[in-house]
Amino acid sequence: MKEKLKAIQEKAMAAFQEAKEMKDIDDLKVKYLGKKGELTAILKEMGKLSAEERPIIGQMANDVRQNLEKRLDEAKNRLAAAEMAHRLEKEKIDVTMPGRARAEGHRHPMSIVTDEICSIFMGMGYEVAEGPEVEKDYYNFEALNIPKNHPARDEQDTFYIGGDILLRTQTSPMQVRTMEKGKLPIRMVCPGAVYRSDEVDATHSPVFHQLEGLVVDKNITMGDLKGALVVFAKELFGEDTKVRFRPHHFPFTEPSAEMDVTCFACGGKGCRVCKGEGYIELLGCGMVHPKVLKMSGIDPDEYSGFAFGMGLERVAMQRYGITDLRLLFENDMKFLKQF
Ligand code: DAH
Repeated sequence: MKEKLKAIQEKAMAAFQEAKEMKDIDDLKVKYLGKKGELTAILKEMGKLSAEERPIIGQMANDVRQNLEKRLDEAKNRLAAAEMAHRLEKEKIDVTMPGRARAEGHRHPMSIVTDEICSIFMGMGYEVAEGPEVEKDYYNFEALNIPKNHPARDEQDTFYIGGDILLRTQTSPMQVRTMEKGKLPIRMVCPGAVYRSDEVDATHSPVFHQLEGLVVDKNITMGDLKGALVVFAKELFGEDTKVRFRPHHFPFTEPSAEMDVTCFACGGKGCRVCKGEGYIELLGCGMVHPKVLKMSGIDPDEYSGFAFGMGLERVAMQRYGITDLRLLFENDMKFLKQF
């Protein structure tokens, strides 16, 4: 039995030495030291031994067990250290390696133009306001002197949410919402999306953007309107820009006009861009109709005001020489990267 014990000890130690993975350690423990292991099997044969031999062999078996347990622990520590070293090597991070550059975006041409126009007006003391795109019929039409069955509604057919709720067709409802608050004087511009049930083509889209302006104070005249809009046009398109006003009709202003600016491409000589006109239409404007002031709680005998509204896509298209409106909505990277 001594021989057997010795043989087991040698065999086990050799196996411990060769263990490559943590999992081997567990297997070896079961194989040599477990309840059904080789050492236990030998101890079961102790009964066959003589009374003198038993304690000697017993002592020896205990020594072997202790020895093997110690060696197994050592093997385990060796493997754990090796595994850790391996992981440290594998998961090493080179902090000096340059990072992956992230593609950086930039503002959309519509945002560039909108921000620029707002900042021109802010420079003249205007506040920038924003209003709801889902609007009440009252603010979009009624309070702007466009009652039910007024022909002006035909040109501004929109999407109805139901009842008196619709998608606003213009930013003009913000005139009413601002006046209603009753804080005078008013100097405000309001950019935002507007909606009309139009088919998409090179110059139309069911969603586009406008910028509204409103000034209400005592003694505001058409001269103030012209002064403000001429300064604005020169700041936006350059000092040499000339403007002209043409009489027009809007239900919420009286008198009303459209303002044209000299063509950015030819400077007024006439070219393909302005179709030989020399001028390009920029916005609608006028003196706020007394009825509109009154409906919003402002006394037209004491106060007067002017208003204007412009299409922002049109401004962007003029500014950048874009000939198709759809380009502004299609999110084509090749197009957008140019700005
Ligand atoms: N809301 C008008 C439109 O969508 C544009 C407009 C014209 C706005 C004259 C105004 C204005 O404030 O005074 O056609």
